[in-house]
Amino acid sequence: MSASVAVALPCFGQAIHVDAARMQWTIDTGTMSYVVGVNEEKMVQTVYWGPRLAPGAVLPMAKMGGERSSFDPAMVATPLEYAGFGAGLYTEPALKVDSADGDRTVVLEYADAHVTGDLLELVLRDKVKPIVVHLYYQGFAQGVVARWSRIENAGKTTIKVEQAASATWNLPRGTGYEWSWLTGQWAGEWQLHTAAIQAGAQVIESRRGSTSHEANPWFAVGKTKETTERAGPVWFGELGWSGSWKMAVEGTTQDDVRITGGFNPFDFEYALKPGESLGTPKFYAGYTAGGRGEASRILHRFQREVILPTHPDPKPRPIIYNSWEATEFNVSEAGQIALAEKAAKLGVELFVIDDGWFGARKDDHAGLGDWVVNKEKFPNGLKPVIDRVHGLGMKFGLWFEPEMVNPDSDLYRKHPEWAMNFPGRQRTEMRNQLLLNLARTDVKEYVFGFLDKTVSENDIAFIKWDYNRNWSEPGWAGADSAGEKAIYVKYVENLYEIFARLRKKHPGLEIETCSGGGGRVDLGILQYTDEVWTSDNTDALDRLSIQYGFSQAYAPQVMVAWVTDVPNMDHRFIPLQFRFLVAMQGALGVGSNLNKMPEAELAESAQLVNFYKGIRDTVQTGGLYRLASPEAGDAAQVEYVAKDGSQAVLLAYLHSQRYRMAYPTVKLEGLDATAIYRVRALDAAKYKGAELVSGSVLMGDGVRLGLTGDYDSTALVLEKVK
Ligand code: DGJ
Repeated sequence: MSASVAVALPCFGQAIHVDAARMQWTIDTGTMSYVVGVNEEKMVQTVYWGPRLAPGAVLPMAKMGGERSSFDPAMVATPLEYAGFGAGLYTEPALKVDSADGDRTVVLEYADAHVTGDLLELVLRDKVKPIVVHLYYQGFAQGVVARWSRIENAGKTTIKVEQAASATWNLPRGTGYEWSWLTGQWAGEWQLHTAAIQAGAQVIESRRGSTSHEANPWFAVGKTKETTERAGPVWFGELGWSGSWKMAVEGTTQDDVRITGGFNPFDFEYALKPGESLGTPKFYAGYTAGGRGEASRILHRFQREVILPTHPDPKPRPIIYNSWEATEFNVSEAGQIALAEKAAKLGVELFVIDDGWFGARKDDHAGLGDWVVNKEKFPNGLKPVIDRVHGLGMKFGLWFEPEMVNPDSDLYRKHPEWAMNFPGRQRTEMRNQLLLNLARTDVKEYVFGFLDKTVSENDIAFIKWDYNRNWSEPGWAGADSAGEKAIYVKYVENLYEIFARLRKKHPGLEIETCSGGGGRVDLGILQYTDEVWTSDNTDALDRLSIQYGFSQAYAPQVMVAWVTDVPNMDHRFIPLQFRFLVAMQGALGVGSNLNKMPEAELAESAQLVNFYKGIRDTVQTGGLYRLASPEAGDAAQVEYVAKDGSQAVLLAYLHSQRYRMAYPTVKLEGLDATAIYRVRALDAAKYKGAELVSGSVLMGDGVRLGLTGDYDSTALVLEKVK
């Protein structure tokens, strides 16, 4: 272990402090501190996770929990950082290993520590077996710590890892905790739930091979009586993994609360030959005393400044036109050019052809896997459309679903063995398609090859990367030495490798992650993709809730939101301005059939796109304040404050007026109380206030808006004048 030092990291403004005498390591980051220590049994445990400690603060020594009875051993009562299954551990293990001699016990003891720059590595060893676990901790100035592990086989025989978490996060022992999580379904993602943490485990997971619509790997824990949107403690985290994952939120009868997350142990096994090791995904977490809103703002900032491929200062996203809802599979040279001409007039910056341009693709029964231009639809290739799009001043983007194959495709006829399957077992089709086994090197090279070729041969600035089914029959005949079940890891590693190679070879290329909407959104894929397709549901009322949930965990900048035609999937008629103002909460796009849009609506759309361009930087790179939740009533509002404080934007919605009640007064947040703001209203008739108003009044007294009736909406832009 290194001597007692404080390693300052000026570039991140955070530090790792080592107290060799007390065997403790403190990671200070943002407004939080995280402290780990070694106890009298040589086990590594959490000592502290909460508000930033004063320099030199002295904490209690790490100590095993007491044995309450013969049924409650010390192992269960100790907040271990990374517990192996064995020695009476009944809570969720971080690690479970089967050794060649059948011994499935792992009891990890501290062996060594290294601090290298902003990285702390703690080395643990099993008491008996040559199993070594490396725990990594990296602090970020935004107030986030990343944790992950590496399990190493330091012995002479193969071992099988059956369960491997990235980390266990232990909260301060106590009662009154509640946690929030996100679940969903296709066209109904990002539903927010909150429930008390009591004794027992609550699990969110995906066994589907990818992140999933059904649950997202994010959590936020608060205190029921203290935590609100605006204040109170929040311990929050999210996992960076796009394969099957699991998070277990456990309360014990001793009032301990733990969150263990990483690879999903269901159907999992990863063989390690002597000298090999398995790395786990990064599990990021933070703490704030500023409530749920501040927890989200920390994550949003962290994503922009650390995670996204163009970090630390990703440019705001372009305004997209995507043809999917307008034409579905019925794409053609003339049809796409006609749409592009109208889109350009609206002020669109990136024109994207969606599904249907390739192979024998007429509907979803055929073509996936054959990534050559369909000559019936585009007899001259894509070039005439791309040239026209460029001539209109827009960039060009193209849809792919690279990991999939239709049985009715040339690729499948040539390589049926490339589809994920158990030989001899019927392959389950979903949307008439099968998954390619991306864990295979030949499949990985094929996928990289056609993407690279298409991007090299055409001026393509953007890929919409879709993924429209989950796994079934996850077999891998001829797997490498890590074993068939290592498919859960190798598939995702190869996916990431393809993204990384493509981006390296085509530095200007941008990628949207889509999985039938928001089915693959996590901090793993966001390291390689610039934005996400939030949901296939573009109904503006549903979107208010979907986007409210999304914003808990992910930044407005990555949240693509299109304005589309009405009626949509819920058969509602919602006015154009309301639809636009909902889509303006994130990266605005348009998906309407512009060939059918009346001239007056085209003109209004152009005006609204232009309005958005004036607030885009603030929405996409500023701080988000959720002033009123769409779940709480008929009036919802969000506000954004620019990074430098020079502008703030209020987007306000009324679903339906009732009892002749006036729209509730809106109190703004995050402004400079001492400054004066010039208030500009999108619709003058709906704002009755003064033009110049001081920040303290806007936050204290609030603004009154004249929203009435059904589906009314407006926006205010506040420019700081002094
Ligand atoms: C699902 C996506 O979410 C849609 O936006 C569209 O791209 C379709 N797939 C195309 O098949």
